[in-house]
Amino acid sequence: MKSGRHFLQIPGPTNVPERVLRAIAQPTIDHRGPAFSTLGREAIAGLRRVFQTAGHVVIYPSSGTGAWEASLVNTLSAGDTVLMFETGHFATLWRDMAVRLGLVVDFVPGDWRHGVDPEVVRQKLADDRERRIKAVAVVHNETSTGVTSRIAAIRTAMDDARHPALLLVDTISSLGSIDYRHDEWRVDVTVAGSQKGLMLPPGLGFNAVSEKALAASKEARLPRAYWDWQPMIKDGAAGFFPYTPATNLLYGLRESVAMLMDEGLPHVFARHCRFAEATRRAAAAWGLEVLCANPQEYSSSLTAVMMPPGHDADAFRAIVLERFDMSLGTGLGRLKGRVFRIGHLGDFNDLMLAGTLSGVEMGLAASGVPFTRGGVTAALEYLAGEGVERQAREAHQET
Ligand SMILES: Cc1ncc(COP(=O)(O)O)c(C=O)c1O
Repeated sequence: MKSGRHFLQIPGPTNVPERVLRAIAQPTIDHRGPAFSTLGREAIAGLRRVFQTAGHVVIYPSSGTGAWEASLVNTLSAGDTVLMFETGHFATLWRDMAVRLGLVVDFVPGDWRHGVDPEVVRQKLADDRERRIKAVAVVHNETSTGVTSRIAAIRTAMDDARHPALLLVDTISSLGSIDYRHDEWRVDVTVAGSQKGLMLPPGLGFNAVSEKALAASKEARLPRAYWDWQPMIKDGAAGFFPYTPATNLLYGLRESVAMLMDEGLPHVFARHCRFAEATRRAAAAWGLEVLCANPQEYSSSLTAVMMPPGHDADAFRAIVLERFDMSLGTGLGRLKGRVFRIGHLGDFNDLMLAGTLSGVEMGLAASGVPFTRGGVTAALEYLAGEGVERQAREAHQET
């Protein structure tokens, strides 16, 4: 028996706020009836605001992996070349999926500590004189590493190369947490899911779709049925779906979008920036290195912290779970045992971060990891001090 609340500090699924839980706890309605049309249209309209698009948005009853698959099968044909980047575990899984679907992937190697280099994008596309590359696919926020890729700069690099490839972006762990603009950055397909910045349970996958991507879907020949955009977009115009949608999650989606809009997206992004900065200050004070090697690419939704050599991150996480009832993110793929990840996204505030960092600091002591005390103090000083105003100002300037 554990008293008090469990701390779910993995980088998604995230804590679902009471407001959303209550919204979901409604009677399920007829998904072909008139009341549903309003819900469906409101859910799609709300999501457009979060993606910052006036274009098409498709909602699948799926995990993020389904939305990944939808982005590929709707736009590409067997044998097409896709330019992808080894930024971490999720970029590697997306590559594996593309290969299994019969695509040819030019996979640019990476060290899992850096995002996509826009200059490499420019060069690869400039070298592709025969226009074999049909799409550039980038993970905006690598959830396995806490490293972002700069999508606006990648867009500029593609424009500089005057290359017609589509731009596909995975925002599964950035949408609703880190500034992202589907239309302004002329992204062709944005992939997202419900269970992170949108503060919902897992179970919804999203695609935001540009007109260029929609036109490409008419020529694309990869087999598709469940993931086909055409019936989704056609029925979606009236707020309906070609098959049974996840009705109750859509109630939740409507509510979570309302929460994000009540707070204001610039404020939401600034709040996440503060949590990330406070977390990095804690790690620095502990004498632990964060995995992200480029400050321009720090993630605001999670921080991956490296363990000192000879210490197993999973053994540390097990102690934190056992002693303090807190779940931290595990090291994925080649990072297994080498990093732990602190999720600081979604329905989250200063005191939840203080509790989270306290659990980490106590856990480090309990597991005999060499570190310096004072990380929590460093974070609190930042949170209580000028960090509040400054981060809000910075986020405002970015928008
Ligand atoms: C960046 C990223 N892409 C893709 C996925 C896969 O999504 P799902 O596990 O919902 O299928 C995840 C899951 O955490 C992710 O973080």
